[in-house]
Amino acid sequence: MSPLDLSVEELNGLMDTAMDIMKNPEKYSRACEGKVLATLFYEPSTRTRLSFEAAMLRLGGRTMGFHSADSSSATKGETVADTIRVMSKFADICAMRHPKEGAPMVAASRSTIPVINAGDGGHQHPTQTLTDLLTIRSLYGKLQGFTIGLCGDLKFGRTVHSLINALSRYEGIRFIFISPKELKVPDYITEMLTQKNIPYEEVIKLEEIMPQLDFLYMTRVQKERFFNEEDYIRLRNFYILDKEKMAFAKEKMFILHPLPRVNEISVELDDDPRAAYFRQVQYGLYVRMALILTLLGIE
Ligand code: NCD
Repeated sequence: MSPLDLSVEELNGLMDTAMDIMKNPEKYSRACEGKVLATLFYEPSTRTRLSFEAAMLRLGGRTMGFHSADSSSATKGETVADTIRVMSKFADICAMRHPKEGAPMVAASRSTIPVINAGDGGHQHPTQTLTDLLTIRSLYGKLQGFTIGLCGDLKFGRTVHSLINALSRYEGIRFIFISPKELKVPDYITEMLTQKNIPYEEVIKLEEIMPQLDFLYMTRVQKERFFNEEDYIRLRNFYILDKEKMAFAKEKMFILHPLPRVNEISVELDDDPRAAYFRQVQYGLYVRMALILTLLGIE
């Protein structure tokens, strides 16, 4: 499942459900009784996996799964296609994270249960995007007419790729991509924006464009996707957002981050009311609850 598999109306419906769950969690606490979610994580994760598990548990369902390729039959050479056929017999729905781009899509094509892409390599991260959309909608009141800066590792950052895709379907969005030239957003994304006539700018310096931004989406340099450690070391601290840089920002410019944070946002900003990254985690839980309900066809 990718956000683009859903129409804008369906996405909005999902976010409405998430908000309703947030307001009335009791109403949903037994909605998935008797249902099982499998979390098949071939790559490390803290937030995403536990957020899926918490979502299912809070809906009254149960969970099972593995959290590293080493503890699955992948070490014996089993393909994702075979694993999912087996899982389809055990669970009602599955969330899969995989280092190979497209693996969850292959699994979905062989599966008899819904397969949610929980992050595939440097490609996409659809449920983080649902989280980000719900966060933006809650903070800003709408998903139209703003300038968003995306900063850091725009090349390997899958959350960035999914978010741009999703936001490109809303009106009046302007993107500013802030990265060193080695970590620029992939061409296929800028080509898509050009084709759709969506304005974007690519810059290296954060301070100078800061006053224009309504949101700043910070990302970590994706160490695990680098071929060479020297490059990673050279680039890892390229951006560090701190009070000094925030002085250039609008009074209401919210800071988002999919987490985990490494060094790119100074902890001195955590108490700034514009720091929205921990609130984002909370929205992630509710939107995953809404997604599980929707995919299982539960009203
Ligand atoms: C992101 C990911 O896995 O791509 N984390 C997450 O799911 N919240 C971002 C990252 O790892 O930098």
